[in-house]
Amino acid sequence: MDFLDIMRERKSCRSFDPEKKVSREELLKIIEAGRLSPSGCNSQPWKFIVVDSPEAKEKLCDAIVVGNGATGAPWRHQVPAFIILVEQQAVLKPMVVEHYHTTQRFAQGDIGAACMNMCHEAFSLGLSTCMIGMNDQSKMEEYFGIPHGCEVRLVLAIGHAAGEIPGNKIRKPLEEVCSFNYWK
Ligand SMILES: Cc1cc2nc3c(=O)[nH]c(=O)nc-3n(C[C@H](O)[C@H](O)[C@H](O)COP(=O)(O)O)c2cc1C
Repeated sequence: MDFLDIMRERKSCRSFDPEKKVSREELLKIIEAGRLSPSGCNSQPWKFIVVDSPEAKEKLCDAIVVGNGATGAPWRHQVPAFIILVEQQAVLKPMVVEHYHTTQRFAQGDIGAACMNMCHEAFSLGLSTCMIGMNDQSKMEEYFGIPHGCEVRLVLAIGHAAGEIPGNKIRKPLEEVCSFNYWK
């Protein structure tokens, strides 16, 4: 399939078939797509925690509800497997840190790129995904032993879609997001 067709066809999934499991082999292929992703100064400032046991999934479902009861995933209990993407301290070239006064300048972008590659690998395996942005950091640390200071940036829900994923690609028009040679 042409790469742009993959981009057009992949959609975020919010209704999973809880009976159809995701194998460890599939999960490891998805992790491999993350691991092979590019990152600033090749620092790879990430850690991927696969969550596929019933006990760990129960904890994860609790950790993606925040203090006021809000969640980006009201459908979370149907999801067969998750991957938690955690930001780690990056090691950048000294001249980069000197300029930006931080080691984490590129880390969120790096994790976004890794997550997107994981979504596309999942898609190529016939699986569906949804990124989940909101989580309760202190619960993540308590339940999964994540060191304090290592922020959970995304959780990726993975499984088989329960039927056709509804909705169209809604995107800003090209002219609004793109210009040549100067800001417009
Ligand atoms: C950083 C980030 C966080 C997201 N968090 C959520 C979320 O919590 N819940 C959800 O249903 N979708 C979430 N999404 C999915 C977006 O809503 C979705 O990508 C967007 O609406 C475009 O739709 P598409 O992925 O089907 O093309 C998130 C996407 C990104 C990139």
